[in-house]
Amino acid sequence: MLIVFLGAPGAGKGTQAKALAEKKNLTHLATGDMLRAEVAAGTELGLMARAFMDRGDLVPDDVMIGMIKGRLKTPVSGGILLDGFPRTVAQARALDEALDAAGTGVDRAIFFEVPTEELVRRLAGRATCSGCQRAYHDTFHPPRNADECDDCGAKLVRREDDRPEAVRNRLDVYRTQTTPVLDHYRAAGKLVEIDGGQAIDAVQEELIAAVE
Ligand code: AP5
Ligand code: MG
Repeated sequence: MLIVFLGAPGAGKGTQAKALAEKKNLTHLATGDMLRAEVAAGTELGLMARAFMDRGDLVPDDVMIGMIKGRLKTPVSGGILLDGFPRTVAQARALDEALDAAGTGVDRAIFFEVPTEELVRRLAGRATCSGCQRAYHDTFHPPRNADECDDCGAKLVRREDDRPEAVRNRLDVYRTQTTPVLDHYRAAGKLVEIDGGQAIDAVQEELIAAVE
């Protein structure tokens, strides 16, 4: 089973992916988390990617396609949940080709639809775990203890790209470069649209129904 999560910045992809992956024994591959780990480790890739990420621009396709193809070669037990990839049509085509060559394919592309004002509210109040990358929100999903992750106890941090200027750019980049990916999967009959504007648990219920 290979599921792709699509949706704007702040749509709740990471939040829903963590919960679904645990319930359904899926390997959660989040390209944003993979890149942030490279940045934190100070690798050459991380140094290169950081400038794009902090501005809210996409990291170039060839880099991202190479990264995900490499990761997909590692065998996993259960299925795969891709969060944050593909986000251009070129990435979607490259993913199709790589899976096709392996005799598999994308089973479902789940699109979390959320109004723009709600996306802005979510990103403005987000705190992210510096250890496991779990997302919290000052109002909608606060941690049990201030500034500490419920799961792993690591410190919560604010993402550099959650500054208002970067958020504006991320939303523009999403509209121009990522929304065409929806048509790619719609044309293939694989797109499932979910109302991502509901409360976290209600979205999870609709999601489980969509993948079962
Ligand atoms: P990435 O990390 O993927 O960021 P993103 O797509 O912008 O999405 P986010 O992680 O911001 O949002 P999310 O949908 O996961 O929402 P979350 O669950 O956290 O990418 C970062 C950067 O890396 C990119 O800008 C780019 O530079 C680079 N990159 C990554 N992949 C790439 C690729 N394939 N190609 C090129 N470049 C790439 O939730 C958000 C907030 O809302 C949280 O506070 C949460 O608690 C809250 N919340 C969630 N659900 C709800 C709900 N239902 N109700 C109320 N609050 C909610
Ligand atoms: Mg995320």
